[in-house]
Amino acid sequence: MSGRTLRRAPRLAKCAFAAFAFVIAACLAAPLLAAERAPGHAAIASAHPLATAAGHEILAKGGNAFDAAVAVTAALAVVEPTGSGLTGGGFYLLHRASDARDVMIDAREKAPLAATRDMFLGPDGNPVPGMSLNTALGAGIAGEAAAIEHLVKEYGRLPLAVSLAPAIRLAREGFPLYTRLRANIERKREVFAKQPEVARVWLRKGEAPAPGTVIRQPQLAHTLETLAKRGMRDFYEGETARKLVAGVRKLGGIWTAEDLAAYRVVERAPIVGEYRGARIVSSSPPASGGIVLVEALNVLAGYDLAHLDAVTRTHLIIESMQRAHRDRAVWLGDPDFVTMPVAELIHPYYAAGLRASIRLDRAMPSADLPGVKPASQGDNTTHFSILDAEGNRAAVTITLNFYFGSGLSVPGTGLFLNDEMDDFSSKAGVPNGFNLVGNAANAIAPGKRMLSSSTPTFIETPRGLMIAGTPGGSYITGMVLLATLDFLDGRNAAQIVAAPRIHHQYLPDVLQYEPGALTAADTAALAKLGYQLRESKRRWGNLQVVTWDYASGRVEAASDPRGEGEGQVY
Ligand code: GLY
Repeated sequence: MSGRTLRRAPRLAKCAFAAFAFVIAACLAAPLLAAERAPGHAAIASAHPLATAAGHEILAKGGNAFDAAVAVTAALAVVEPTGSGLTGGGFYLLHRASDARDVMIDAREKAPLAATRDMFLGPDGNPVPGMSLNTALGAGIAGEAAAIEHLVKEYGRLPLAVSLAPAIRLAREGFPLYTRLRANIERKREVFAKQPEVARVWLRKGEAPAPGTVIRQPQLAHTLETLAKRGMRDFYEGETARKLVAGVRKLGGIWTAEDLAAYRVVERAPIVGEYRGARIVSSSPPASGGIVLVEALNVLAGYDLAHLDAVTRTHLIIESMQRAHRDRAVWLGDPDFVTMPVAELIHPYYAAGLRASIRLDRAMPSADLPGVKPASQGDNTTHFSILDAEGNRAAVTITLNFYFGSGLSVPGTGLFLNDEMDDFSSKAGVPNGFNLVGNAANAIAPGKRMLSSSTPTFIETPRGLMIAGTPGGSYITGMVLLATLDFLDGRNAAQIVAAPRIHHQYLPDVLQYEPGALTAADTAALAKLGYQLRESKRRWGNLQVVTWDYASGRVEAASDPRGEGEGQVY
């Protein structure tokens, strides 16, 4: 090393330090900026008007966004049991205004301690169809009840019993059956008919009840009342826990008292990224959403999407989705079990490398990307978004996996078992219920959390904020990506939730689109680029969006018109 280089080193170090300090200050500025402001209005968007109303009731009683999140979670377990429930799990992305703290509560289900890597494989070494979806073996140890316990203890202001009251009332007094829920009862009619306790609530003379029929759930009301009285620990270590273990084992499952007693939520740092001046805060593993979202946005950051023609814009969005979902399949799993190159995957330099592989004149076949070699959605899972008048936020995606989970109810509890074990990769490269592939990082192991697509997200820009998320299995992250781009393009909450959708998840190597998302000219041009296109027969997702415009002070809440949810500003 020359003397000249040596003399310059301290100056370089000073410059580097100044640059580092600037970057740190810039990074800190965004949350501080948000913390200094209070919207003065609260807003909730959820998948059902009665769940939105439950949240409002709790805000009106002096609760904050986190108390409201407890009330909405519990109410959804009653009025939308296809999507979530106490016997499920999920991800609670929170922002506390008082100290600008962003945190993700990981309430994902865990594989039971008696689970084994090959538990869903038959004698031929292949997954037994339906075993991880339709049997009690498919149930992971539930996390949603622990999330409620944690929210009340660490973030809320109101007692548990107050926040659970609206849900208990809905379970006792009932709610009118709506068309989408009726359709999902139809789907599970056979399995419901075999369970007398379930049939009593959900069937009439063996058939799905007529729309408008009042659905009362006395057993679920009793379970919720017990928890309200004894605390959520009862779910894991009390009378409710004993009922759950006995019931699951009777159904052929492998839950033990030890599994339930050991379950704890984990507070994890969210994934944070930057896209064209916007700060992205989203879910971290074992939810794949934040990494896939930030990676895709990093790829797109190299293009001026606003000034590209519609086909090229669609092409680039699809190429970014495909590559990010490929990395999901190859790398991601439970951070407590696998080491993942998270920092690399969300680094702009990595995205630059991915961009170099994108050609404007042709689609990249998924098979040409190194990775996993391979051998409908929206009614399962649920999401809600809350902003309170002080600026606290909750973006919550919770799930039982498929409709009503496995459809098996734990006797005496009114609770449906999740079938989340299907979100593990039962065998490397073999698609799961969402046609997603994975490999060793997401293999089953005792006590491990299965990978999720959940993408509860905050988008912060100098002009405003969006809180967003959706159900939809493997379609989730793509939907949040499109919502992010729409928000940054200046669309309002109602426009964002209504916009037609496109999707690519690496494998299968297909560009799917909702009716109306692409014109005939677009599809012809995209087919010419080499895409295999498929128009979806149904529309997917149930996006719940809250926005806040700093300049005008306007707060908006919108629920996806694909569902019957409601967004309200108070
Ligand atoms: N159960 C779907 C998901 O979490 O991705």
